[in-house]
Amino acid sequence: MTNTKQPSGGARASGKPHVCPVWIGYLLASPVRRWFENPERILAPLARPGQLALDVGCAMGFFTLPLARLVGPQGRVVAVDVQQKMLDGLARRLRKRGLADRVESRLSDAHGLPLDDLAASVDIALIVHVVHEVPDPGALFSQIATAMKPGGWVIGVKRKVGPAAADGRSAVG
Ligand SMILES: C[S@@+](CC[C@H](N)C(=O)[O-])C[C@H]1O[C@@H](n2cnc3c(N)ncnc32)[C@H](O)[C@@H]1O
Repeated sequence: MTNTKQPSGGARASGKPHVCPVWIGYLLASPVRRWFENPERILAPLARPGQLALDVGCAMGFFTLPLARLVGPQGRVVAVDVQQKMLDGLARRLRKRGLADRVESRLSDAHGLPLDDLAASVDIALIVHVVHEVPDPGALFSQIATAMKPGGWVIGVKRKVGPAAADGRSAVG
């Protein structure tokens, strides 16, 4: 009998982490998504002009762009993804909307998030629908914690699974 179950934490049986395909990245950036997951409604209570923000697993920027607008021209967003093609899509969308100068994209790798220069400096960090793809979420959150300013906010959003997901809503914590 073949076991089709995948190991937990986003790793495949091959040992390679399962990451969101790039074609889904285009769908995730669709404005239709705003009907059931509104970035401004999630971010506005905590994001402020002038902040340093972090978007972990940014894909093509469905949350990065609103975050960049909320931190304003004096603020900065560091957007991290493990796939260069997602960051390329993000760069195109930022250029089109005149937001490229306030967002710095960074490619993460097997060694983790490229955040060494940001220790204790991030005001607000976002990690939306990413944890299920990460083989070692504990290590990821520890790196995010190191980057956070004391009193900073980490916003995590994940899809509900099981019957509770029938309404299509997300859990925000
Ligand atoms: C389902 S998508 C969600 C994208 C975005 N946060 C959103 O809500 O539109 C997950 C993204 O996380 C990225 N990702 C997966 N593992 C990662 C890791 N270890 N570090 C950074 N990004 C990662 C994937 O490449 C993908 O772009």
